[in-house]
Amino acid sequence: MRRKLVVGNWKMYGGLVANQALLQDVLNGVSELVKADYAVCVPFPYLSQAQTLLAGSNLAWGAQNLSTQQEGAYTGEVAAGMLTDFGCTVVIIGHSERRGLFHESNEITAEKFEAAQKAGLKPIFCVGETLAERESGVTEQVVAGQLDAVLVRFGATVLKNAVVAYEPVWAIGTGKTASADQAQAVHAFIRQRVAGYDAGVAQNLCILYGGSVKPGNAVELFSMPDIDGGLIGGASLVANDFVAICKAAQ
Ligand code: PGA
Repeated sequence: MRRKLVVGNWKMYGGLVANQALLQDVLNGVSELVKADYAVCVPFPYLSQAQTLLAGSNLAWGAQNLSTQQEGAYTGEVAAGMLTDFGCTVVIIGHSERRGLFHESNEITAEKFEAAQKAGLKPIFCVGETLAERESGVTEQVVAGQLDAVLVRFGATVLKNAVVAYEPVWAIGTGKTASADQAQAVHAFIRQRVAGYDAGVAQNLCILYGGSVKPGNAVELFSMPDIDGGLIGGASLVANDFVAICKAAQ
């Protein structure tokens, strides 16, 4: 049985004062929930705050990006080892905003994946098609290409210690959720694709859905056979909503 996982992606939102209240409220809401796993991915400057507030709790924390490099003259970059220094256990890689706005290629996402795992971080590896790609019927090709960046290079065993997040770009921050059936179809495709490399790894792989998950649609999405939880953007900034989504994963 795969355990469900709910991860908040704060994106570039937050502030010391607001975070304190949000994290405290989320902690209070999830501290008794033992049947699933929970994490929040906060902006780099707030990792220390997250570590101080969340250490020893059942709410893990992580980052939203990292460098491909371990150290060096890379102004503005943050290395995997710096994330583990602050107790991070997970890191989002290949989010569509990174791919789209910051031109991260499949190759770069693969290098980041490797850098994360080398430092002992669990990658939350994001894949997903744009609206134009869905409408032209190439969703599976696009998702397969994004997955293969990791699978072809490293093989399927690296997915034993990783999470995949299917996030259709057209559903992110738009209020347009993929229907549970639409999401399930792509999740099943992802699992099948990984099974082509290693059936055991595919069976145990945690595949999150992301894209306008809200308290009102979380239960239906999470009840689909291949949806193992969610990567939550906007709703992770509202404590009651995020806690309700966490409860839906129970
Ligand atoms: P959203 O974002 O929940 O605000 O759609 C999801 C994500 O980008 O991870």
